[in-house]
Amino acid sequence: MATNIVFHPGAVSQAERTELLGQRGLTIWLTGLSASGKSTIATALEQHLLHLHKFAYRLDGDNIRFGLNKDLGFSEAARNENIRRIGEVAKLFADASAVAITAFISPYRADRELARALHAAGDHPFVEVFVDAPLEVVEERDPKGLYKRARAGEIKEFTGISAPYEAPEAPEIHIRTDQTSVEESVKIITDYLKEKQYI
Ligand code: PPS
Repeated sequence: MATNIVFHPGAVSQAERTELLGQRGLTIWLTGLSASGKSTIATALEQHLLHLHKFAYRLDGDNIRFGLNKDLGFSEAARNENIRRIGEVAKLFADASAVAITAFISPYRADRELARALHAAGDHPFVEVFVDAPLEVVEERDPKGLYKRARAGEIKEFTGISAPYEAPEAPEIHIRTDQTSVEESVKIITDYLKEKQYI
């Protein structure tokens, strides 16, 4: 635990940064089961926003676990820490006026609420997107063969099979990916951002 530390403010306020860069920072937080479509939507959304000349950047579960969070596994405590760190990193991106797009299962409601509170404290919008597909559908998709292995008992604590997923109760956006195309999903999110005048 760090002690004797003092927060050092910059010379540019958040409002001034927003004005200078012509862009407000925010976080789009995708949550859902493995294979629900988080990474696919995040990738397409990042591309779309960049083509609108917005500074958007994707933080993705598998990728972050290769680097920043490579010391973390999938126990409840490790997932709590995974999401705590991502919440902090996303907030830093939002502080920098970027649109952070996070794609993590983030199965625990309390962890997502912590990330939301962190953003609220920095006056940054936090848009929770429930990337929703029924377990039967994601199990059928099973692009990495993980559900099959989890059912066979080869992977412990697998979300939806042997570890919980707490669905959002009041997400800003709810997308059923078994009924909505990737393009439509990107449009739903972008329309929401425009309607709120975030972009
Ligand atoms: S979490 O729960 O938010 O900390 O998980 P996340 O960082 O998003 O990582 C999920 C990806 O890790 C792979 N994987 C597992 N997922 C769930 N449970 C277990 N036990 C597990 N082991 C490995 C899996 O490929 C997830 O990728 P996605 O993109 O979600 O399918």
